[in-house]
Amino acid sequence: MAKRFEDSTFRESMKVRLDFNNMMAEYIGPKGITESDLEGLEVKIEAAERAMVEKRAQGKMYWRDLPYNQKEIVEDIKTYVESVKGQFESFVVLGIGGSALGPIAVQQAINHPFYNELPEKRNGYPKLYVADNIDPEKLVTLFDVIDLKTSLFNVVSKSGSTSETMSQFMIIKEMLEKELGKEEAKKHIVCTTDPKVGNLRPIAEAEGYKSFIIQPGVGGRFSELSPVGLLPAAMCGIDIEELLAGAAYMDEICNTENTFQNPAAIYAILQYLSMQKGKNISIVMSYVDSLKYVADWYAQLWAESLGKKFDNEGKVVRVGQTPIKALGATDQHSQVQLYAEGPQDKVILFLGVDRYKTEITIPNIYQDIPTLGFLGGETHNKLITTEQMATEYALLKAEQTNMTLTVPEVNEFTVGQILYLFEVATGFAGELLNINAFDQPGVEEGKNATYAMFGRPGYEEKKAELDDRPAKKDKFII
Ligand code: PA5
Repeated sequence: MAKRFEDSTFRESMKVRLDFNNMMAEYIGPKGITESDLEGLEVKIEAAERAMVEKRAQGKMYWRDLPYNQKEIVEDIKTYVESVKGQFESFVVLGIGGSALGPIAVQQAINHPFYNELPEKRNGYPKLYVADNIDPEKLVTLFDVIDLKTSLFNVVSKSGSTSETMSQFMIIKEMLEKELGKEEAKKHIVCTTDPKVGNLRPIAEAEGYKSFIIQPGVGGRFSELSPVGLLPAAMCGIDIEELLAGAAYMDEICNTENTFQNPAAIYAILQYLSMQKGKNISIVMSYVDSLKYVADWYAQLWAESLGKKFDNEGKVVRVGQTPIKALGATDQHSQVQLYAEGPQDKVILFLGVDRYKTEITIPNIYQDIPTLGFLGGETHNKLITTEQMATEYALLKAEQTNMTLTVPEVNEFTVGQILYLFEVATGFAGELLNINAFDQPGVEEGKNATYAMFGRPGYEEKKAELDDRPAKKDKFII
């Protein structure tokens, strides 16, 4: 049967739109970006555009090809999902960072917000849980709602050695084997990891676990469109082919000679110029509850990719924007005061939708009270959309640069576009900043210190360095 995304009319009608008028000095005043700022960046923009094309061709941005080269993988995932459908009540992702934020974002965006509580909305698919953190209360209390016997655990780790994920795996493996026996336990574990690197791959092979690969060249935070995100999504009944088709459509949109028609490039350019003007905070404020977790996913992507001390020549640059997640209308009643009147060091991106999935009308029961009566007969849809426009106006008046990304509807096709747009924008911003957007050396120090404190072999020198640090003496309040 033909899929709706194969129809060009559907694709065109689901195109994501970026409105960046309020980034420009012409609208927002002197705090905005001028034509001459853009002209001054021409050489850098051209170089970034070239680098994006060249690095893709050299396979250095392998994640960019995920919308196209996973036909067999998608079939494998679908076959596996069908083979286990009905056998499990719960599907639990054991993963952290890029292995958790994407699956959460896509599930929350597409499925019913109370998916886990509503069997009729699940259509035979299991409930989804993501056990990312290692706060002991998180894993222990999970067992208050899931039953080992009816749970399938997806161990997801690109490196195959992340302590948080691997320790969770070790706990669950032992529990499963004790309760179900070694052979039966195997059916409750599915791994997603690198084809070669790390501990998880050899373990999966030795144990005979079903496994999927995270393709080399696809880093954690760029992996949502790989089996990292595709398996949990398919496991919850999400159409992963449409998700990938949405990403491919965004790739097509970005593949233009005209930079001003390329939403990913424009987003990166405007954020780059904003950083030059000291705007080091990037806020994503969704006026769609279902896209709230896309802001969480974006926060990791933008922060971990662009927050760098050194540029590509080893010069200290200390660049990056601090991402902040906000929800409209909720945060109008908390953070928006700061956005409007606090330091002008932010770029706010609104996420909006043309058509919410439901509609609700406010009853006309207080016509005699004019200060309430004006709401009667209107919808929450109109109220939230109006509040979004009003907040945008308030920020315009406050000279706070802002943009709006609007989707016609939230569905697999539009979410695929959003994810891909942000990924390409991140790569492009990395080029403009002349940094490596695909590593995370700043995370290593903490990881290594943990290993040293835990006595992991090979970390003896780090342990000695830690033991040598000055003892904390007297700055305590007890
Ligand atoms: O983007 C990244 O590389 C990280 O945030 C990883 O996703 C995170 O550290 C988890 O790593 P791994 O998938 O190797 O377990």
